Amino acid sequence: MAFCVFTTRSAFLRRMATASLAGKVRKQPSSDMAVFRTVFQNAKHVVALTGAGISAESGIPTFRGSGGLWRKYNAQDIATPGAFLANPSLVWEFYSYRRDLVLSKKPNPAHHALAKAEAQLEAEGRRLVVITQNIDELHRDAGTKNLLELHGTLFRTRCTNCGIISENRASPISPALAGKGAPDPEVPDARIPEQELPRCSKCAGLLRPHVVWFGESLDPDILNSAQKELDKCDLCLVIGTSSVVYPAAMFAPGVADRGVPVAEFNIESTPGTENFGFHFEGFCGSTLPKALGV
Ligand SMILES: NC(=O)c1ccc[n+]([C@@H]2O[C@H](COP(=O)([O-])OP(=O)(O)OC[C@H]3O[C@@H](n4cnc5c(N)ncnc54)[C@H](O)[C@@H]3O)[C@@H](O)[C@H]2O)c1
Ligand SMILES: [Zn+2]
Repeated sequence: MAFCVFTTRSAFLRRMATASLAGKVRKQPSSDMAVFRTVFQNAKHVVALTGAGISAESGIPTFRGSGGLWRKYNAQDIATPGAFLANPSLVWEFYSYRRDLVLSKKPNPAHHALAKAEAQLEAEGRRLVVITQNIDELHRDAGTKNLLELHGTLFRTRCTNCGIISENRASPISPALAGKGAPDPEVPDARIPEQELPRCSKCAGLLRPHVVWFGESLDPDILNSAQKELDKCDLCLVIGTSSVVYPAAMFAPGVADRGVPVAEFNIESTPGTENFGFHFEGFCGSTLPKALGV
């Protein structure tokens, strides 16, 4: 089944309404760290779902917080196949800016906590896997090995002609993008000719970022692997995600429906919160290392 990335609460709210009609009365989530620690220590298979919020303390803005706009655009307007077709220069400016920003950032204590916990659990014959919506590769940089990147990464390109996927951390990614991509609203569109945008080294076709844009389908193999992990897990952590970008937003409620404990780490409540057993409010760079005891 193909799943598209979309931002709507309607599917989620419909599900919640059905649950209420079925007479499921939900308790307030607990914020008792000692109780969570016991659950964590007994878990054999932990899935951590992460979103833009886990990288906020590394200095990478989320889409929904302040700093979510680039020039006058929302990410949802510009991270789309239609925007790339209409103005590949503008979309490449946006990605060139994001690549350079991320290249200057480092993983924070929340990324490190997950990587350390993975190694500790592995040594005990247990498993921790990270399923991320992020495209910044900070989990890899922190040393996470069991990693599923649902939305691709900023540092891979895909040829729109031959389809080849390549690693690429060059800055600038093409000479014409040097010094372009400034985020201020008054900066004019650079209108770079297509020939001067990043091109394929094999066939000279136009390259695009290998990320899943709004309205595009997720890679079915990655989605399948994610679903298998979710089906097997006995504890799920939901870290720094607004629970409004689908399909990732339905993963944790699905796990909670199986009766598996879900713990949310966020600076605020989300549309998913009331569905979960635990909610730890605060910066995940502080709450997560404490929760995982690393
Ligand atoms: N770093 C990145 O790679 C990056 C950055 C921005 C957006 N995105 C993309 O944006 C989409 C948006 O979905 P999303 O749900 O991941 O992000 P989002 O921007 O919709 O939500 C971020 C969430 O993080 C929470 N948050 C912010 N700072 C936090 C902190 N310090 N500790 C804990 N929680 C914190 C916010 O309250 C919010 O709920 C995804 O598709 C993702 O690929 C990725
Ligand atoms: Zn090519």
